[in-house]
Amino acid sequence: MDKMEVITCTAPVNLAVIKYWGKRDEELILPVNSSLSATLSQEELCVTTSVAISSKFSTDRIWLNGRENFIKDYPRLQNVLKIVREEYKKTGKTELMNSKVHICSVNNFPTAAGLASSAAGFACLAFALTKLFKIECDVSVIARQGSGSACRSIYGGFVAWEKGEKSDGTDSIAVQVAPENHWTEMHILVLVVSEEKKETSSTSGMRRSVETSELLKLRAEHVVPQRMYEMKQAILNKDFEKFADLTMKDSNQFHAICLDTFPPIIPPYMNSISHSIIQLISKYNELCGTKVAYSFDAGPSAVLFLREKDVPECLSLIKTFFPPTQEQGESFLRGLYVNLSPDSDTFHGIKEKIALPLTPGGIKYIIHTQVGDGPRIVKNQECCLLNAEGLPKKSSDN
Ligand code: DP6
Repeated sequence: MDKMEVITCTAPVNLAVIKYWGKRDEELILPVNSSLSATLSQEELCVTTSVAISSKFSTDRIWLNGRENFIKDYPRLQNVLKIVREEYKKTGKTELMNSKVHICSVNNFPTAAGLASSAAGFACLAFALTKLFKIECDVSVIARQGSGSACRSIYGGFVAWEKGEKSDGTDSIAVQVAPENHWTEMHILVLVVSEEKKETSSTSGMRRSVETSELLKLRAEHVVPQRMYEMKQAILNKDFEKFADLTMKDSNQFHAICLDTFPPIIPPYMNSISHSIIQLISKYNELCGTKVAYSFDAGPSAVLFLREKDVPECLSLIKTFFPPTQEQGESFLRGLYVNLSPDSDTFHGIKEKIALPLTPGGIKYIIHTQVGDGPRIVKNQECCLLNAEGLPKKSSDN
C-alpha cells in the first residue's frame, strides 16, 4: 500500500484495587492471580497515540513524548507488533503484509507522576493497531502482552483481568465489571509524591517475588479469589465501606509481599510521605467512619477513592497536614474543580483529634478525577501527532 493510512486514539490510565503481582508465564504475561481496577477519566489523564502505516516506510519507528526511541530496545513492543501482524495474516488479507508502521505517543500527564503510563501506552497502541489493521480479536489479549496491567485499560468503568487457566493465554482477558456511569459518586484523588527514580522495576520485582515470597503463594491461592468475588459485589452494590476495606487491605498486602520478597524490594516503593498519608487516612476513617480508601502501586504516590460529597473535606484535611509551599500554591490542585469552603468547627475538631505532624511540600500536587471510559478513536485530524510524511509534527530534544 503506497498511500499512508493513519489513526489516532486515546487510552486511559487504570488503578488496581485488587493488585496484579506475579507472573506464571513471563513470555505470554500470564498472572498468578486475577486483578481488578478502576479506569481513570481521560479528561485528566490519558495517552494519545497516532499510528501510520505505509509500504514507503523502510522500518518500524516509534517516538515517545517527542523523542525517537529504538524499537530494538523494546522487546515487548516488537512482540505486540508481531502479534498484530500474525492476527492480520489470519484474516487472509495481504495488502498490509509488507508495510511498516510509525508510532507517535504522548502523555497528557508527567511521567514523573508515578502513574502507570506504560499500561495506558500499551492499551492505546494495541487498540490503535487493531483498528488500523482492521482485525477482530480480543484487544486486551494483545495489550496484556505489552504490559500485564495494560489489558485493564481496554475498558472503561471497573475492569477485572481474569487470570485464566489455559497455557496459551487465550482466556487471560480483561472483562468489564461495571461501566463508567455505574457509580458516578465515586471520585478519585491522585496524590503525587516526589519520586526519585525507582530502583526495582515492576517486572523484575514481581519475578523475584514469585521466586521467593511464601506470602505471594498464599495470596494467589487463598486470598485473591475471595477478594475478587467480594470486590465485584461491592462495586455492583455500590457498597463504599466494603470497597474501601478491600482496596486498602489489598494495597497493604501487595507492599507486604514486596518486603517478604528475598532479598526484599528495598528501597520500598512507598516512602515516609506515603506512610504519613496512610496514617492520616486511617485516623480520619477511625474518627468519621470509612470515608476514604488509599491504594499504592510500585511508587510513593497515593491514589485515594472517596465519595464526591467528601471531596472538599478530605482535600482540606490533606492541605492542612501536607501544606503546599508557596511555589506549589496555584498548581497544587488540578483536574475537576472543588469548592473548598471555609473550614467548619467540626472540621477543626477533627484536625485537632488527628494530631499528626505537618509535612510542608510532601505532596507535589493533587489530581482530582473520576472513573472514566475506555479507549477512543480521535476523529479530529488536527489531533494527529504525525504529519503527511508520517513524521512527528512536534519533536523535542529533551
Ligand atoms: C503494582 O503491568 O507494570 O501496578 O506486566 O511486567 O509490565 P508487567 O507489569 P505491570 O505491573 C503493574 C503492577 C502494579 C499492580 C497492578 O496494576 O495491578
